[in-house]
Amino acid sequence: MQVIRVKNYNEMSEKAADMLAAQVKSKPDSVLGLATGGTPEGTYKAFVQKALQENFSLSELTTFNLDEYVGLSPQHPKSYHLYMKNHLFQPLALQPSQTNLPRGNAPYLEKEAERYERMIKEVGGIDLQLLGIGENGHIGFNEPGTSFTSRTHIEKLNPTTREANARYFENKEDVPEHAITMGISSIMDSGSILLLASGERKKEAVKRLLEDKNTREDFPASSLRNHPYVTMVADEEALAAVSKTDESSEKNEAKPL
Ligand code: GLP
Repeated sequence: MQVIRVKNYNEMSEKAADMLAAQVKSKPDSVLGLATGGTPEGTYKAFVQKALQENFSLSELTTFNLDEYVGLSPQHPKSYHLYMKNHLFQPLALQPSQTNLPRGNAPYLEKEAERYERMIKEVGGIDLQLLGIGENGHIGFNEPGTSFTSRTHIEKLNPTTREANARYFENKEDVPEHAITMGISSIMDSGSILLLASGERKKEAVKRLLEDKNTREDFPASSLRNHPYVTMVADEEALAAVSKTDESSEKNEAKPL
């Protein structure tokens, strides 16, 4: 895993946006895997600015998001569908046919999960997957204990995850209890992974990811140790508990574009 240390949230966002832009410029028909949450908001803002300023083509781009809350319609104000529309799809004028999220309000959720996997396969897989990390080490909505062989599935959210995400809802009881999420194995199939971490809240998870050599299902992000091309962009607060960061260079590096 290559670790890029940056000063703060803004630097992380700029760096990540540069990397997304480099991917899209070198391969205009890229398939990007996208994440939600507070972490990538700045990345999307910086990417939109870059795309509009530099005017590189986005017409062949396809996107697949990691996850969606079960029970929320795409129009629901707290849905990840709406988050993506507001932060990225609308500002970039991406066509609905270019963007994909699992439907949390599909009548048959297991069928929806299968459909989502099929769609990813049909476009030839994800080139670059953007990821955040939960305080408990979750990636997507794969909570501790999720099998490393999992594909897109329904996940019951941990109380700590619901608590962490309560800041986006009026009441914490409003946070849905389940989500539909790409599985660990779906994520691991991506050509390369760009993991973002910012802020003090993430420092224990980042420490465990970088310093604990165990790859275990009780810490989902540890699965990334088995991926050949992972780059983590993390700021000083997120790296505060890590004793040394040149750890980075362990065994894998950024995939050459
Ligand atoms: C959420 C999302 C993840 C995200 C993580 C961290 O629950 N499902 O995709 O990476 O938790 O969120 P944040 O960036 O808001 O800290």
